[in-house]
Amino acid sequence: MNIVNVDYDGLIPNNVDLNHDARVKKALESWHPGYIDWWHDMGPEGFQQSLVYLRTAVSVDPKGWAKFDYVRMPEYKWGILLAPQHAERKIPFGAHKGEPAWQEVPGEYRAMLRRLIVIQGDTEPASVEQQRHLGKTAPSLYDMRNLFQVNVEEGRHLWAMVYLLQKYFGADGRDEAAALLQRRSGDPDTPRMLGAFNEQTPDWLSFFMFTYFTDRDGKMQLESLAQSGFDPLSRTCRFMLTEEAHHMFVGETGVGRIIERTCQAMKEAGIDDPADIGGVRKLGVIDLPTIQKKANLHFSLTLDLFGNEISTNAANAFHAGLKGRFREDRLKDDHQLESATYPVLRLVDGKVVNQDVPALSGLNMRLRDDYVVDCNVGVSRWNKIIDGYGIPFAIELPHVAFHRHIGEFSGIHADVDGNVLTDAQWTARRDQFLPSATDRDFIESLMQPQSEPGKFAGWIAPPKVGIDNKPGEFEYVKIVDA
Ligand SMILES: [Fe+2]
Ligand SMILES: [Fe+2]
Repeated sequence: MNIVNVDYDGLIPNNVDLNHDARVKKALESWHPGYIDWWHDMGPEGFQQSLVYLRTAVSVDPKGWAKFDYVRMPEYKWGILLAPQHAERKIPFGAHKGEPAWQEVPGEYRAMLRRLIVIQGDTEPASVEQQRHLGKTAPSLYDMRNLFQVNVEEGRHLWAMVYLLQKYFGADGRDEAAALLQRRSGDPDTPRMLGAFNEQTPDWLSFFMFTYFTDRDGKMQLESLAQSGFDPLSRTCRFMLTEEAHHMFVGETGVGRIIERTCQAMKEAGIDDPADIGGVRKLGVIDLPTIQKKANLHFSLTLDLFGNEISTNAANAFHAGLKGRFREDRLKDDHQLESATYPVLRLVDGKVVNQDVPALSGLNMRLRDDYVVDCNVGVSRWNKIIDGYGIPFAIELPHVAFHRHIGEFSGIHADVDGNVLTDAQWTARRDQFLPSATDRDFIESLMQPQSEPGKFAGWIAPPKVGIDNKPGEFEYVKIVDA
């Protein structure tokens, strides 16, 4: 069978020759109804009958893998898509570096590998659950379509992880696959596994910040799993990354368009002072300091996803050859790190200090540092927009010690520059750093739906180009009342 093209004949589209793998095909077919039930219960609320102009993968060739068409979301072709196998691929790092990549699960690392797959898998449906109310307040049909595209692809990412569990982990893989449909974002009894995936996404600025900051954590995790010595995981993640790029595009351009509209409105009204929050809000746009506070919130929540500063799990997963560094294949060192060190920000005697630690123990922080660099690329593009209007303001990412719930800084309060604060100082200044109840109410007051083709809510600028090069007035979603 041609691995590049996807077989759409059966219930489950795939490029893994499911037709000749009766056991896995049967396992996935019996998981399918539960997935569809989950999608109806927890997927986008109120738009399940609407026709959405979605892209579907028809091949895994990076050039031209997508086909666009109107689809009802429950009929989306969720499938199993792996990037092509390279016959000679070797394990690129760790104790087994240079050995042929594993095509089956290495017995000694089975539990560790399963856990990595389950944690990644758990984030995928979680974000769909977090975003399920947003369709009702979409600022345009264009944005609504992008939300739904992200949602169906996160659903497909769940399929990707479930395939690995069903194919390679037998009975316990089946149990884990079932449990992925049972946990619920924010549920006090059966929450999703990671903190940021139990937070709410109450408005569209949150959605864009989430896709910018939190989907980017997803990108970093997928990049390091794409390096895995377990080849099926590597190939799965490589294809997921091509979808993930769109999620980050939605986040970056979404925030950028909000900033653009705010600056435009300020200029038209002759307001130059970004701190004139009352004046700016009267224009029906989101003031820049509030956008900064939202960035502080989502960035700090996402940093928690990288785990503890010093981590034996991360060291073990690297040593075992299961999870590499960001773009391991482009790094120039011994790829084993047994005697290397890495500088990590730590809390020592109540102070934030830089400390060299064994590189293997500091791998979470190395990935987090790469993440921060990646985040700053888009932030500087946002600042160029503000600059272009001559407004004296720049979005800045807060210090990594700010507003943390995991790791060494979870026990202290710090300001956005990393200065340690007393409890009283934090309470007094919290609303300078993070969205206050008033900020949230103001943003919520703007969340009025705009569902006329070609029209946009007043607080966000239109995109520069349409999806699939469609013209401005294109009807991205044909709304059918459920
Ligand atoms: Fe995903
Ligand atoms: Fe994503």
